[in-house]
Amino acid sequence: MEIIVLSRSQACQYAVDKIAQVLTQTNGKATLGLATGGTMTPLYAKLCQSNLDFSHATSFNLDEYVGLAPDNPQSYHYYMNDQLFFKKPFWKSYLPQGNTADAAVAAKAYHEKLVTTPRDLQLLGIGENGHIGFNEPGSSPTSITRVLPLTESTRRANSRYFDDEKAVPTHAISMGLSEILAAKQIILIAFGQKKAKAIYQMTQRPPHPDCPASFLQNHPNTVVLCDTAAASLLK
Ligand code: F6R
Repeated sequence: MEIIVLSRSQACQYAVDKIAQVLTQTNGKATLGLATGGTMTPLYAKLCQSNLDFSHATSFNLDEYVGLAPDNPQSYHYYMNDQLFFKKPFWKSYLPQGNTADAAVAAKAYHEKLVTTPRDLQLLGIGENGHIGFNEPGSSPTSITRVLPLTESTRRANSRYFDDEKAVPTHAISMGLSEILAAKQIILIAFGQKKAKAIYQMTQRPPHPDCPASFLQNHPNTVVLCDTAAASLLK
C-alpha cells in the first residue's frame, strides 16, 4: 500500500490522471467503482471539467441507503446524477436499489452483477471509524454486498446532509470488503484531521476488522492519497 501526501487539488488531479490511464488502457470501456461523500465532490468536479469520455464505461457505486428513492436529494443515486452522471454519462451505471420492498434481494442481485463485472479501478473514501463503503468495524474481509445497520457514529457524521440525525436512514446496502478488494486497482482518498486516526489505524496496524480499511494492506495495488491533516498521525 503506497501512501502519498498531497494537497486536496493535487490528490484529485492524481485520481483523474489514473482514471484517464485506465480509460486509455481499456479503449474507453473501463469499469469503475465509485464512491459518494464530501471527499469525492472536488474529484467529480474535476472529472466534469475534463475532456474524458465515459460513454463506453461502466460504473458501480459502493452503496445506497435503504428506503431512499433515487430522486430523494439525500440518496446516493441523486448525488451521483447531480455530481457526475448528468454531466458525464456512462454507458451503464449501477447502484444498489435502496428503495425496494426487500433490500436483501436487491443486495443479492447487486452481488451477482459485481461477480460478472470486475472493476478496473475502485475509488474509496474512508469513514472516521475506518469504514469503507458502509463496511463498519466488525466487517469480515470475505463479506459481500449485503444490508447493513449503520453505526451511531456514521449516522452522526452523515447527518450533516439531512435535516436532523433522526432523518438519517438506519440501514444501507453496501458492497462487501471481498468485492472491494477484487478491484484491480484501488485509490483511497482522505482529507482533514477527522480522518487522521482512521488513516493511522488503516496503515500502521495489522489488518483487523476493527478498522475495515486496514484489509486494503492485503491488496496488491492500492494508493492512499492524504492531505497533510489526514496524514498528521503518520511518522
Ligand atoms: C460513500 C462511502 C463512504 C464514504 C465515507 C467518507 O459512498 O462509501 O464510505 O466514502 O463515509 O465520507 P466523506 O467523504 O463524506 O467524509
